[in-house]
Amino acid sequence: MSQQKEQRIVPRKGPDFDLDGDIPKYWFGGDAFKSRFFDAMSLLFPEGEKFFISCVRDYRDAIDDPELEAQVKDFIYQEGQHGHVHTQFNNRLKAQGIAVDHILEQQKKLMFGFFRKRFSRRFTLGQTAAAEHMTALMAHGFFGTDMFTDADPRIRGMYAWHAVEEIEHKAVAFDVFQKVARGGYFTRAITMMLVSFSFPFHVFAIMRHMFKVDGLENRWRVWAKGLWWLYGPGGLYPRMLGSYLAYYKPGFHPWKHGEMATYEKWNAHFEHSGDAIAAADAVMAANQERAAA
Ligand SMILES: [Fe+2]
Ligand SMILES: [Fe+2]
Repeated sequence: MSQQKEQRIVPRKGPDFDLDGDIPKYWFGGDAFKSRFFDAMSLLFPEGEKFFISCVRDYRDAIDDPELEAQVKDFIYQEGQHGHVHTQFNNRLKAQGIAVDHILEQQKKLMFGFFRKRFSRRFTLGQTAAAEHMTALMAHGFFGTDMFTDADPRIRGMYAWHAVEEIEHKAVAFDVFQKVARGGYFTRAITMMLVSFSFPFHVFAIMRHMFKVDGLENRWRVWAKGLWWLYGPGGLYPRMLGSYLAYYKPGFHPWKHGEMATYEKWNAHFEHSGDAIAAADAVMAANQERAAA
């Protein structure tokens, strides 16, 4: 695929998604697995994004390209806003009895007390670039489809906004890793392998806790059905396998991958209306139309 035009990073203030409203616990079509899957990801964001910001910031002073420097500034702003909005969302989970503070504390210990203490700056920036590729491919993969049709529009709106910004800044950590930190192929590949294992491991561990709190009966059935939805033929992840594996190609660059039509639709709508929920609704309506055609 040819190199795409780099998207300008827009530093938007985190929108108000009315997350204090009466959103049902299983906000994703009444489905426990799908709802808790995205809930668990949301729990990883605030500390994860602080980690990403720190790892990119390590090299900020060594950047001599003014354009990349400006991108780093906007990247930090966007990730800060994501952490802020996801914290609001996570407060809902706290009210449901989820051990939010404990989970965040454990994650902080792992990211800052372990990785940032024991590994090199280059390595932790490699982890950041790998995690950014994972979020970008989910952003491209989830929002180019009609999979969020049954989701609550407020949470769908939040994830769409986050996806849009992940797409905009998807190359920043990678460029700093390659151009400034001079990260090599080995570090790139090994950190991606690590993230590929640790990301689902943490998401599923959090979901296990959530299902326990929910007192869910037939937990095995929920897991089996949900894992099939994620990994079964035609599932979410198999569809993204090509984009995932591309990261291991020596000449990989984030702007060589991912369709931009969904992004452009959201952006045009948001610039016009300033309404992030309505922008996500517009994207969803277009995706549904395309799926029905
Ligand atoms: Fe983010
Ligand atoms: Fe990001």
